Amino acid sequence: MFYRPGIDNHGLPHNPFKAIVAPRPIGWISSLDVHGRSNLAPYSFFNGVGDDPPMVMYSTTGPKIGVDEGKDSISNIRATREFCVSVVSSALRDAMNISSGSYAAGEDEFEMADLPKGTARVVAPPFVAHAPASLECKLHRIVNLPGDAVVVFGQVVGIHIREEHLKDGLLDVTGYQPLARLGYRDYTAVTETFSLNRPGQT
Ligand SMILES: Cc1cc2nc3c(=O)[nH]c(=O)nc-3n(C[C@H](O)[C@H](O)[C@H](O)COP(=O)(O)O)c2cc1C
Repeated sequence: MFYRPGIDNHGLPHNPFKAIVAPRPIGWISSLDVHGRSNLAPYSFFNGVGDDPPMVMYSTTGPKIGVDEGKDSISNIRATREFCVSVVSSALRDAMNISSGSYAAGEDEFEMADLPKGTARVVAPPFVAHAPASLECKLHRIVNLPGDAVVVFGQVVGIHIREEHLKDGLLDVTGYQPLARLGYRDYTAVTETFSLNRPGQT
């Protein structure tokens, strides 16, 4: 099949785009509002986009489900220019899901999901203390895309890795099994890995 988004009707029961761009890592974005109140929400339009210096991006689309308000993460980051990103392990899946609810601005999803806060060293927002790894970020730039997507680029200025998730100096990914988003309501977790040598590498 072929269709042109915005022009043709795909004729499928659900929009297939997010199922095609999958799996997507989940950035668990924490921020503070101007009053110092914490916010936490998952974003799967998320990725690393540079490594020297390390850079990340996430994209916010549309309002919160069921309410007219815009999303708190973008308002907070516009106002305070800092955020953290935590990795969602398989063990944290329910807490991550709770934190995605459409709560009023100022409500603290760390408390709702019963998640202890880790204290950042370079930026002010807390991160998910039990996450296998968390990134402290300073806002680099906000870019408005066609339609309603707004992309936030951040420079990573601090990196936390929980010692128990390091094995022989490497991140033990299959130990903590990071969650990733597929299409529809589906997720996957990394439970196995394999390695390949690039051409010319031994
Ligand atoms: C796994 C998952 C991934 C999500 N990814 C995105 C995303 O990439 N962009 C987005 O705008 N909303 C995304 N959402 C929805 C937000 O998490 C939700 O709207 C949340 O209420 C926003 O919280 P905030 O207002 O505290 O920022 C996602 C939800 C889940 C459960």
